[in-house]
Amino acid sequence: MIRKQYVLIADLYSIKDDPSSDGKPVRVRGWVRTNRSNGHVGFIALSDGTCFENVQIVYNIDAHPELAEASKIATGCSIDVAGTLSLTPDAKQPFEVQADSVTVVGGCDPDFPMQKKRHSLEFMREIPHLRPRTNTFTALFRVRSVLCAAIHEFFQSNGFLYITPPLITGNDAEGAGEVFTVTTREDGDYEKDFFGKHACLTVSGQLHVEPFALAYDKVYTFGPTFRAENSNTTTHASEFWMVEPEIAFADLEDDMEVMESMVKYCIKAVLDRCPSEMKFFNDMFDKEHALISRLQAVVDSEFKVLPYTEAIDLLLKSGRQFQYPVEWGIDMKSEHERYLCEEVVKGPVFIIDYPKDIKAFYMRMNEDGKTVAACDCLVPGVGELIGGSQREERYDLLTKRMAELGIPQDSLQWYCDLRRFGSVPHSGFGLGLERFILYLTNIGNIRDTIPYARTPKNLMF
Ligand code: 4AD
Ligand code: MG
Repeated sequence: MIRKQYVLIADLYSIKDDPSSDGKPVRVRGWVRTNRSNGHVGFIALSDGTCFENVQIVYNIDAHPELAEASKIATGCSIDVAGTLSLTPDAKQPFEVQADSVTVVGGCDPDFPMQKKRHSLEFMREIPHLRPRTNTFTALFRVRSVLCAAIHEFFQSNGFLYITPPLITGNDAEGAGEVFTVTTREDGDYEKDFFGKHACLTVSGQLHVEPFALAYDKVYTFGPTFRAENSNTTTHASEFWMVEPEIAFADLEDDMEVMESMVKYCIKAVLDRCPSEMKFFNDMFDKEHALISRLQAVVDSEFKVLPYTEAIDLLLKSGRQFQYPVEWGIDMKSEHERYLCEEVVKGPVFIIDYPKDIKAFYMRMNEDGKTVAACDCLVPGVGELIGGSQREERYDLLTKRMAELGIPQDSLQWYCDLRRFGSVPHSGFGLGLERFILYLTNIGNIRDTIPYARTPKNLMF
């Protein structure tokens, strides 16, 4: 398409089974992963980022003495190689490039940290600008990209309109008070501030997108959200991406149907489109090498539904010593959530009908007056992947709940007004993109699922 004189390594992999490509002149470029030579012949593993695999460049010093210089090329250099394609169906790699010339485009100083040996994820976290050049992160960020595309495809092909809510907002949607203030002042005098009032970064686009569901039937948001939550865990980030669909004329069951089909669609897309990357995660990040088969089983199975009250009973009867004691009414911690999906259900599970006191003000009150029509989707290895609910569409009940919780109505009158102007039952959910990546790759820490992680006391670059 562009830069025609070069061939991409991804394209070489797609023509490798065509015998007529054998002996064709090719020109490739990219970054040297490894280089070794015995003085007669040398081998460079070259990555150009277009696929997970490298291409092997062979330089024959005996046949082309001028290629002796190539043996000095260090890991990390960018190079431009002209040569011929040679199919090697019986060798470890299906083809190689026999080099006629190897030109260094950009040299690489010896302190380049990504040398051949395996590096820990912790070490690579300190160099987020260089880690994309490792196998792990080449694979990770391609999965992330494919997953983002799949999310859009799922919603677009199911009639959802894409809405982009503001990132700067005047309200804290979840009511948890964990917002980052946006200010141009040092004195905290927000009345004199840029917007003439307190402003913050959004924790969720939900409240802003509900009005659009009540106009377009089905909508979704997909963008960054920010939480000043001082949680130092493997699943919490201060900046993360969230997908938030909102559906008119939908109850909690309809909501769960969308959650389940979306999760399945995305798993399938990633398994289909990232086979090499997923094989890598399967082999390197899963003790039993069973990641792919587990994900495939999820696509082929039905998610279980467990009411909160039953879930608490199961935890109480488990005989387990949990760090946080279990009783009806608790906001389940990760250890409880993981026990339920990893030990009891052994797969994704929906927990529904949570006590109202641990959930947000906008969730619809159930008949019992104690629980709300909420649903969390828990998955093994991660815990909460999705949080959703049916929304309280009855004006009186919504405003009563806000009053109980001390949420000032005036700043959210616009939101309450939706319940006066053609209110309908409606539902939605939020899925954290990085948690989904954790689930798909088993990489283990949310800091490794996003290009530049923001977590408490951590803001590199
Ligand atoms: O459960 P949460 O807080 O729900 C909401 O924000 C709702 N307004 C969503 C909605 O109904 N439209 O967050 C939703 C999801 C969680 O299930 C989790 O996957 C992710 O967002 N999430 C986080 N991901 C990474 N780091 C954090 N600190 C997260 N907090 C929530
Ligand atoms: Mg939640």
